[in-house]
Amino acid sequence: MSQWKISNFEEYQKAYMASLENPDQFWGNIAESFQWKKKWNTVKSGGFQNLDFKWFDGSELNITENCLDRHLSSQPDKLALLFEPNDPHGEVIKYTYRELHEAVCKTANMIKGLGIKKGDRVCLYMSMVPELLISVLACARIGAIHSVVFGGFSAQSLAGRIQDSDCKLLITNDGGYRGDKIIPLKEISDEALKNCPSIENVIVHSRTKSEVKMQSGRDHWWHDLYKNSSADCPAETMKAEDPLFILYTSGSTGKPKGVLHTTAGYMVWAAYTFQNVFQLNDEKDLYWCTADIGWITGHTYITYGPLLSGVTTVMFEGVPTYPDAGRFWNIVDKHQITHFYTAPTAIRALMACDQSLVEKANLSSLKVLGTVGEPINVEAWEWYNEHVGKKKCPIVDTWWQTETGGIMISPLANITKTKPCFATLPIPGVSLELVDADGKVIEGNRVEGNLCVSQSWPGQARTVWGDHERFKQTYFGTYPNKYFTGDGCRRDEDGYYRITGRVDDVINVSGHRIGTAEVEDAIDLLENVIETAVVGYPHDIKGQGIYAYIIMKDAEVNVDSFIKTVREQVTKVIGPIAKPDKIQIVSGLPKTRSGKIMRRILRKVAEGDSKNLGDTSTLLDPSVVTEIVNGAK
Ligand code: PRX
Repeated sequence: MSQWKISNFEEYQKAYMASLENPDQFWGNIAESFQWKKKWNTVKSGGFQNLDFKWFDGSELNITENCLDRHLSSQPDKLALLFEPNDPHGEVIKYTYRELHEAVCKTANMIKGLGIKKGDRVCLYMSMVPELLISVLACARIGAIHSVVFGGFSAQSLAGRIQDSDCKLLITNDGGYRGDKIIPLKEISDEALKNCPSIENVIVHSRTKSEVKMQSGRDHWWHDLYKNSSADCPAETMKAEDPLFILYTSGSTGKPKGVLHTTAGYMVWAAYTFQNVFQLNDEKDLYWCTADIGWITGHTYITYGPLLSGVTTVMFEGVPTYPDAGRFWNIVDKHQITHFYTAPTAIRALMACDQSLVEKANLSSLKVLGTVGEPINVEAWEWYNEHVGKKKCPIVDTWWQTETGGIMISPLANITKTKPCFATLPIPGVSLELVDADGKVIEGNRVEGNLCVSQSWPGQARTVWGDHERFKQTYFGTYPNKYFTGDGCRRDEDGYYRITGRVDDVINVSGHRIGTAEVEDAIDLLENVIETAVVGYPHDIKGQGIYAYIIMKDAEVNVDSFIKTVREQVTKVIGPIAKPDKIQIVSGLPKTRSGKIMRRILRKVAEGDSKNLGDTSTLLDPSVVTEIVNGAK
C-alpha cells in the first residue's frame, strides 16, 4: 500500500483541493510510487478543448510489471488470486504473485508464438476462470490490446465486436459453467467466426470438457501450447498513451462503442481509486468483487486495481443463486472475505430469497461493503447494511462508468461519511458540475441537473475505437468543454451527490447498459415487424426492465408465438441480457409531426403512470396514445 493513501477526512479534503489546484504536482507525486521504464516529461497535458488530453506523456512502462514483477521481491508468496469455482465442492485454485507472474509470462509467450505483437487486438470470450484474468495480463505484457467480450453475449454480438476492432486472435473456453448450465462458448465462437476473417487463430481453454469441434490450423488447445511455452517473457515497453484495452459498451444510438483506455493514466487511476475507496489496511484483508471480467468493474476492480496494490483478489466462477441463494454468504464465510463489492441487482435478488440463508451464514469477517453499476434503492441499501454488514460495515456506493476507467464518486471506507443511496463525494481529481439543459452550470446545494466532469482525470477513456468523431459527439458534443456522463444527479444540502439514473436512451438492466436503439434494431430485423420502440421501466430486481412496443406487419399471426420469436431474436442478435421483459403489440406509435417517437409518453405508460402523460396535442395522431394505454392495461 502506498504513501498517498488517504487516512482521514482532513487528508481527503487536502488531497481533493491539491488535485485540482495543482494536478501536475499531485499526480506526479502519486505516480512516483509506480515502476517506470522511463519517467514522464509532463504529468497532464492537453484538455477538453481539442480533446488532446494526455497523462504522463513521454513515460514508458508496462502495467504488468506494476501488477506482478514489482511484488516479486517484496511478497512473492503472497496470494495474488483466489478462485472459487462454480461448484461449491470444486477445487479452489490459488496463485501466489510468483505463480501468477509465471502463468502470465507463459501465456504471453504462447500468444506471441501465434504471431501476436504490440498493438494487435485480441478478443477474450471466456467464462470466469483464472485463465481469463491471466489472458488479460498476458496481452498487456506484450502490448496487445485486449477486448474482453462478456460470455453472455450472442454470436452476432461477439462477431460485431471482433470485426469492429479487427481482432487477430480469439481466446475462449470449450464451455463456461454458470450455475447448473454450461454456456457453449466454443460453439458460439464458431458461429461468430463464420463472419470474422480477421481472426487467424483461436486458443481454446478446456474447462467443462464439453465436446467441441476444433478447426485444424486455426484452433489450438490452451494446454498444448501452454506446456511448451517459456516462462521468460520480458515486458514490452509501452508509451503512456499506448492503448491498453478496448471494452465495448452500449450508447443511446447505433452499435456498441469500443471504449479505448490507455496505459499510464489508467494504471494510476485504477490503483489510486482502489486503495482509497476500499481501504484494505490489514495484511489479512481479503477482497472480493463479484463482477465479471467482461465488464469494466472486472477489469479495474478484479484485475488491475487489486494486483497493482499487491493484495489478493478473489474471483468467482458462478452465480449468486447456485446451488442456492446463500452462495455469496457461504463464500464470504468460507474464505473470510473482509471487503465485498457487488451490484444492487444482486442484493435485490438475494433479499427476495429465503432470509434464513443470509442469517445462518457467519458474516463476521466483513469490514467494508461496496455497490456499483446502478442506483441502489433505500430498501436494498438498508437490507445490505443490516443483514450483510450487521450495521458495522460502511457501504461504499461507487459511481463510475466504462468510460471513466475507475471510481469517480464514492465514500472512502471509514473516512468519509456514507449516506443511504448517495455516492457522496468526488474522488480527488474529479471536478463535477451539474448543468441544466442549456449547459448552464447549476451552483449551490439542493439542486439537480445533468452530471458533467469539467477537467480531465488520468483514467478517462481517450477515444472510441476507429471513431474519434463519435467519441467527441457522444461525450463532448452536448456541452462544450465538458465530459457529459449521460446521468442525472442531485446535490443535497451537504453537497453530497446522488445519481438519479440515465437521462439518455440507455437502459440500465441489472447494472448493464443496453441501448434502446440496439434492441429496436434487433427486433426490426424480423420479417413481421414494421416498427419498434423500446423504453425502460422500473423493475423490482433488475432496477430497470425492457419494454418493447411493436407494430406488426401481419396482425393475423398468433401473438404469443410472435412474442416468443421476438425474445429469441433479441437473444440471438444481442444476448439474453437484452431480452424484453414486456412486449406490447400496438397499431401505431406516438410521434410528433416531424416523425420523432415521443418516448416520454411510452416511458410513462410502461411505468404504469398513464394519468400524467403531459401534452399530447402536438402528436401526429393522439388517438394511438389511448390505444396504447388501454393495451398496456
Ligand atoms: O448510470 C450510471 C450507472 O451505470 C452507468 C455506467 O454503466 P457501465 O459503463 O456499464 O459501468 C458500470 C460499472 C461502473 C452510469 O452511467 N451507475 C454506475 N454506478 C452507479 C450507477 N448509478 C448509480 N449509482 C452508482 N453507484
